[in-house]
Amino acid sequence: MTSHRGFTVWFTGLSGAGKTTLATALATKLGQRRVKVEILDGDEVRTNLSKGLGFSKEDRDTNIRRIGYVSCLLARNGAGVIAAAISPYRELRNEVRRSIEAEGAAFIEVFVQCPIDMLAERDVKGLYKKALAGEIKEFTGVSDPYEAPIDPEVVVETDRETIEESTNKIIQELERQRLLRTSQAPVSSQPAIQLTGVPEAA
Ligand code: ADX
Repeated sequence: MTSHRGFTVWFTGLSGAGKTTLATALATKLGQRRVKVEILDGDEVRTNLSKGLGFSKEDRDTNIRRIGYVSCLLARNGAGVIAAAISPYRELRNEVRRSIEAEGAAFIEVFVQCPIDMLAERDVKGLYKKALAGEIKEFTGVSDPYEAPIDPEVVVETDRETIEESTNKIIQELERQRLLRTSQAPVSSQPAIQLTGVPEAA
């Protein structure tokens, strides 16, 4: 079998919108189809590869360039990558897109949309409350910009879709771009070794 075209699914959206949840769910679904992917998650990358970076525009740009760089290295070798970071600046996302597409891999931008009022109300990490009280500076969507994608490959609305619905939209896009082999049976129904033609033991 010839090697497959690599891709990066790039989730962008506000903090708490569901990027990490969807990244994990998507990776699980792809795994069931024997498509292995690597996840690069903003929160996690910031504890190692981007340790020490803050949330100024310069630091965010550096963070996104690093995630983009690793995504590009993997995707150009045929791997599947899922990146999940706020990535608030359109130009930076487009820069990453250009570098990945220049290597012949696909860039699938997924806008993870959720109204900020709802995110502030849910406030899973307790950060919106602090940001609204002025205790966290430069908080995306509150006191720092978020530039929504203009023409993303996929838009998911996490306030009105199930995880299943949102991940299915992304899988459909990957299929549409022929980035997945579509005719694969679930892992459990495929025998590991086929013993055709082997005579039965006496
Ligand atoms: S990005 O802007 O550089 O893409 P990234 O996705 O890596 O951001 O990290 C965002 C996470 O950092 C948020 O989900 C939140 O938990 C935390 N965080 C802490 N301070 C901020 C801030 N000022 N703005 C946004 N997120 C913040």
